[in-house]
Amino acid sequence: MHNDIKEILLSEDEIATITRQMGAEITKDYKDKKPLVIGLLKGCIPFMSALLNRIDTHVEIAYMAVSSYKGGIRSSGDLKITYDLEIPVKDRDILIIEDIVDTGLTLSTVIQLLYHRGAKSVKIATMLDKPLGRKVDLKPDYIGKTIPKVFVVGFGLDYQELYRNLPYVGILKPTIYEK
Ligand code: IMP
Ligand code: MG
Repeated sequence: MHNDIKEILLSEDEIATITRQMGAEITKDYKDKKPLVIGLLKGCIPFMSALLNRIDTHVEIAYMAVSSYKGGIRSSGDLKITYDLEIPVKDRDILIIEDIVDTGLTLSTVIQLLYHRGAKSVKIATMLDKPLGRKVDLKPDYIGKTIPKVFVVGFGLDYQELYRNLPYVGILKPTIYEK
């Protein structure tokens, strides 16, 4: 698995620093708000779990699964909810946790849906941001690291459902997806 990685973009140490800093910020911003922290499956899992350990105030958690990538490396833009929330969002302060924001199409659709259902506020915390890939006007509120327009895997991010369990984020060797 490690052999398929050309370059490490975010090391385990960097991820620990990011979650510590972001967790502290979120703790401060959401003190006494009891936010509903929503993870977008499956990519959010490692980052969300690391981040939650660093949020030092009351939160509730929930998950949602939406699909847009269809396992490939290009975003299609049409979104399907494959697993919906089991907790009402009406009048709640929502914090969405994402692995990466690229085109922003996934999140802007989810945000609209949450406001439509009566959410009081919706903010986004993402491990990685690819602003150069953006197709809609969307700026995450908490960003771990801003990266160029490259395809990355690891710490939740997949290529054809693999590599999510890498403990760091890296760039895949082009030979892997040219196969
Ligand atoms: P967006 O709707 O284009 O912002 O896409 C967001 C989703 O696309 C992320 O949650 C990822 O699942 C996937 N994605 C975007 N860029 C990458 C990447 O570089 N590697 C793996 N998945 C990615
Ligand atoms: Mg994802």
